[in-house]
Amino acid sequence: MPSELLAYYQQRAGEYERVYAKPERQSDLALLRSLLHDQLRNHHVLEVSCGTGYWTAAFAPAALSVTACDLSPEVLAIARAKPWPSANVEFIEADSYALPVFDRKFSAAFSGFWWSHLPRHRLSTFLSGLHANLQPGATVVFIDNRFVPGSSTPISRTSPDGDSYQLRRLDDGTTHEVLKNFPSESDLRHTVSCITPSPEIILTDYFWLLRYTIP
Ligand SMILES: C[S@@+](CC[C@H](N)C(=O)[O-])C[C@H]1O[C@@H](n2cnc3c(N)ncnc32)[C@H](O)[C@@H]1O
Repeated sequence: MPSELLAYYQQRAGEYERVYAKPERQSDLALLRSLLHDQLRNHHVLEVSCGTGYWTAAFAPAALSVTACDLSPEVLAIARAKPWPSANVEFIEADSYALPVFDRKFSAAFSGFWWSHLPRHRLSTFLSGLHANLQPGATVVFIDNRFVPGSSTPISRTSPDGDSYQLRRLDDGTTHEVLKNFPSESDLRHTVSCITPSPEIILTDYFWLLRYTIP
């Protein structure tokens, strides 16, 4: 039985990339693509919750290899059908909360727009599982949304745990309640404080980027 979040993204697969067409976000998106291309250059990258591979395409040409995972066969089919620059990109069906045991450790990890969907109480378990697949000194990069009134879907409710939710409508007319958190810069620092005292955080108008190194 898939989680509600997974079922929502399975149903949304064909319309997913429209979110990247919002005109007001184009310059921020171009900046993120360029940052990822530079930050993941020459790395063996483990990407989790890769979706349709929109961000994979931004850094795969610079990476040595990319192992990109998602739990939805629907989004993976879209990702696999894209023209990849070389044989260095593979897509694997895997749960980001229970990653497989890979036969190697990666030199970098990346995830786009996944952090915001993590219930706050699952963040540290997720991060421990991710870090277990990384070499000492590995780079970890996350990007995600900032809440921008008028551009972001409004928050419909906040749970006692502090997780916020949105009501989202798909083309088929169905409405889905989706957990979507918008951590502040200090929330991000606090979450990774046991890993590093000095993460890099870049804030654009619409997005944040968090980068840190595994000790
Ligand atoms: C907001 S989308 C992000 C997709 C992509 N990273 C991007 O930025 O365009 C969230 C993704 O998480 C995936 N997902 C949901 N639950 C998952 C799980 N337990 N393990 C792995 N991926 C999951 C969905 O299928 C969806 O592709």
